[in-house]
Amino acid sequence: MFDYDAEMRFLQGRFRAACGVRGGDRVLDVGCGGGQTTREAAADAAPGHVVGVDVSERMLEHARQHTSDEHVSYLLADAATYDFGAATFDVCISRFGVMFFADPVGAFRNLRRALRPGGRLVVMVWQPRAANEWARVIPETIGGDFRDESPFTLGDPAVVREVLTSAGFSEPTFTAVNEQLYYGADVESAYQNVLRLREPQALLAELAPGEADHARAALRAMLSAHDSGDGVLFDSAAWIVSTM
Ligand SMILES: C[S@@+](CC[C@H](N)C(=O)[O-])C[C@H]1O[C@@H](n2cnc3c(N)ncnc32)[C@H](O)[C@@H]1O
Repeated sequence: MFDYDAEMRFLQGRFRAACGVRGGDRVLDVGCGGGQTTREAAADAAPGHVVGVDVSERMLEHARQHTSDEHVSYLLADAATYDFGAATFDVCISRFGVMFFADPVGAFRNLRRALRPGGRLVVMVWQPRAANEWARVIPETIGGDFRDESPFTLGDPAVVREVLTSAGFSEPTFTAVNEQLYYGADVESAYQNVLRLREPQALLAELAPGEADHARAALRAMLSAHDSGDGVLFDSAAWIVSTM
């Protein structure tokens, strides 16, 4: 599995601080994936409780294996529609887990209902693909386009503002986060990490064998150019969006 927590190592501190979870909080972590943010929120919320929700049983299995905190529970459900109960949480957080809703207004309305009046929503979302070096140079190097634009659906603050206010949230604030993404300790581990990602795999699979060899060599050369000596790094651009 791609080591997403390692990739996020320079962003996570910013996100955790912005979440501002306090002792006793009841927290919902949407699209919690492998659970790093859930566990950190639980450490901040103790003796409160954190629920990590995800649609992927595989991700939740990974999260459960890495969690021993009794203040955490994991839930296999679609956060867009699941009935969490009204006013169940003080804070709803998500690190890159809320960009994939088919009906964003309906989904955020569902999350608003799960929050108590005055409860906070703090989510980190990608800015547009063009602002994200990692999302441009990998497909460019392989020689194709990544087709999945879902990670970037909340990149435009005007769109996010419209979605959130239509869902019943107040005017959101946006904090730009420009930190580096960590792809691996050296070129070889970064190369193996990229090959674990679905979209590079799909692009490479479409190439003729000779072209694929050429693309792999180009990928290694590009990763080598991003080797800082202290890890293979790419620029990134995200928003931390906060509202109530
Ligand atoms: C990019 S991953 C981020 C995972 C995690 N937040 C992290 O930062 O490590 C996005 C996650 O959102 C989950 N997800 C997508 N749509 C969802 C939904 N409607 N309800 C719950 N989880 C969802 C995916 O299964 C995936 O685990």
